[in-house]
Amino acid sequence: MDKLEMLQQWVRESRNIVFFGGAGVSTESGIPDFRSVDGLYRQKFDYPPEMIISHTFYEKNPEYFFRFYREKMLPLGFEPNITHRVLARWEEEGKLSAVVTQNIDGLHQKAGSKKVYELHGSVLRNYCTRCRKFHSAEFVKNAPGVPRCECGGIVKPDVVLYEEGLDQNTIEQSIWAISHADLLIVAGTSLTVYPAAGLINYYRGNRLVLINRDETPYDSQADLVFHQSLGEIISRL
Ligand code: APR
Repeated sequence: MDKLEMLQQWVRESRNIVFFGGAGVSTESGIPDFRSVDGLYRQKFDYPPEMIISHTFYEKNPEYFFRFYREKMLPLGFEPNITHRVLARWEEEGKLSAVVTQNIDGLHQKAGSKKVYELHGSVLRNYCTRCRKFHSAEFVKNAPGVPRCECGGIVKPDVVLYEEGLDQNTIEQSIWAISHADLLIVAGTSLTVYPAAGLINYYRGNRLVLINRDETPYDSQADLVFHQSLGEIISRL
């Protein structure tokens, strides 16, 4: 039995799949990832991109932060791809219990997934830092300069910037789901950013599958590894 047949059998047998994903899940929807050769962090800017999307930079230079955020981090008008759709179907069929994602693009929900743990937040949620009023992604996209609420407060996207902590409740729910999964599929992530990457250590089964074009530090820990395009694999499951 080859690797793909093995994965097909594991999927058939599973009633509690958890999918852990990263930016590589959305590249086939047209959204660049961060660390691939054509990723965002490989492009040239006045400052290193990982410095721009940090809490310090957001506080010190909001005009530049929001210009960069609107241009490079706010993917609106993109559609879910085959991976998002298959995961939503597996949830519908009672095979998948949760998607844990590092992505902030909301495409899993757009494809119909209900149980989605967004470790790094979502561009679709934006809150006034003064009155906490909710604002849409379009509001931030269309705002000139620094987005301001009617009350005068800055409207901040609900995404986890570098130097900021992750939502504790989301982490706990993700750990619970991963630690109870019978099959954990980790895909489209370089597994280089913590604490997100460390969550896959809570998996207790022997069916850890890694699907990633490039190698990752967790390849040796996986029970099945595919260095191929995610769409190709998932469309065969
Ligand atoms: N099929 C399979 N793998 C893919 C595909 C694809 N179609 N497209 C990209 N990849 C792989 C790349 O090989 C790469 O290793 O997805 C991985 C994406 O890795 P990163 O760009 O590092 O993205 P991610 O792991 O999600 O980054 C984690 O870093 O900057 C922070 O908050 C940001 O959530 C992000 C976090």
